[in-house]
Amino acid sequence: MPAVSLPDATGHFDRFGGKFVPEALYAALQQLEEAFVAANADPAFKTELDELLADYTGRPSPVTEARRFSEHAGGATILLKREDLNHTGSHKINNVLGQALLTRRMGKTRVIAETGAGQHGVATATAAALFGLECRVYMGKVDTERQALNVARMRLLGAEVIAVDSGTQTLKDAMNDAMRDWVASVDNTHYLIGSVAGPHPFPMIVREFQRVISTEARAQVLARYGRLPDAVAACVGGGSNALGIFADFIPDTEVGLYGFEAGGEGVDTGRHAATISAGEVGVLHGMRTFVLQNADGQTSESHSISAGLDYPGVGPEHAWLAKTGRASYEPITDSEAMDAFRLLTETEGIMPAIESAHAVAGALKLGRRLTEQGVEKPLILVNLSGRGDKDVDTAIEWFHVDTHGDSSTGAAQ
Ligand SMILES: Cc1ncc(COP(=O)(O)O)c(C=O)c1O
Repeated sequence: MPAVSLPDATGHFDRFGGKFVPEALYAALQQLEEAFVAANADPAFKTELDELLADYTGRPSPVTEARRFSEHAGGATILLKREDLNHTGSHKINNVLGQALLTRRMGKTRVIAETGAGQHGVATATAAALFGLECRVYMGKVDTERQALNVARMRLLGAEVIAVDSGTQTLKDAMNDAMRDWVASVDNTHYLIGSVAGPHPFPMIVREFQRVISTEARAQVLARYGRLPDAVAACVGGGSNALGIFADFIPDTEVGLYGFEAGGEGVDTGRHAATISAGEVGVLHGMRTFVLQNADGQTSESHSISAGLDYPGVGPEHAWLAKTGRASYEPITDSEAMDAFRLLTETEGIMPAIESAHAVAGALKLGRRLTEQGVEKPLILVNLSGRGDKDVDTAIEWFHVDTHGDSSTGAAQ
């Protein structure tokens, strides 16, 4: 598959990707690419990163067969790649540790980051504490409210959290402000982007630091089941956990790759973040990709119950995978995701992040569909990208959970 050798030298996945940035950032992107290429060729870098992933993060993360949950998936067996069990609670730490090592290699002393759900911000604040780096995290004001637990975690870790009150006060606006900071601070600061988004070389670097998910999972599934899965599923915000679990399967053309976007209140309502399903090609945050935009090319507001998927763009490699047909993308509504959140919690004792619940909901639909299409006992590998502790307040509100009374289940809906 050509995918393995993309992006090309100019940072493009065919027509997607590129580097649409102010001149002030061009040299920093060049320096970052050179540092990454040199680190990749340096066995000492790989050894240090592997040790951190094992001894600090707790890798390899296990693959769990979700037996009771699978009873609802139309005959399919659902396997969960447990990125929720990583230190800090999501896949975000894989990329952050790699980029923190690059920051040190480049001689920079400060990191900045954008965050939606707060998981990337927490991972960045964690690595900053570990490496003794100064850290500032930009987060939309709306997201600071719906993910208050993660704001507290970042502050306790010693990071400065800036609540961004421009635009929709969500991830897009946080990324705008982080870019602005970087233009002014690039000499001593690395912008630690948290997804396979932004200008080249970020989509490539983040994919490579997340590739460990599929390298592990492919070997784990082969060892246990003696075959590859029929399908691999992940939620897609910017797209880093999805590319992490897709990467090593891309050349296995018999394995279907499925990305589940935030369908919000329904794609027809206009209140969603289903960028590939309903967007147009445009430029956002330094990359050409699918973007939710109006007829004048202005970026539209996105909506999702999950802060981490509430983004009107998507990583350029996903745009390319969608265009070539190698991967398929579908929307999952807020309500489908919350139903899956509850079902997985009640049948497996695993409470997923609401982001990950979109992939879980998608896998349920996919299991039923593949069985109808005649695939015998489909094996579906789902990236459980994070744990749901941060989302308990949202779930209390959504399900009207009684947290005061004496009801034994506490559930009303
Ligand atoms: C647990 C979890 N999963 C998924 C995402 C979405 O990001 P990405 O699409 O880059 O994996 C986030 C973002 O905050 C997250 O916290």
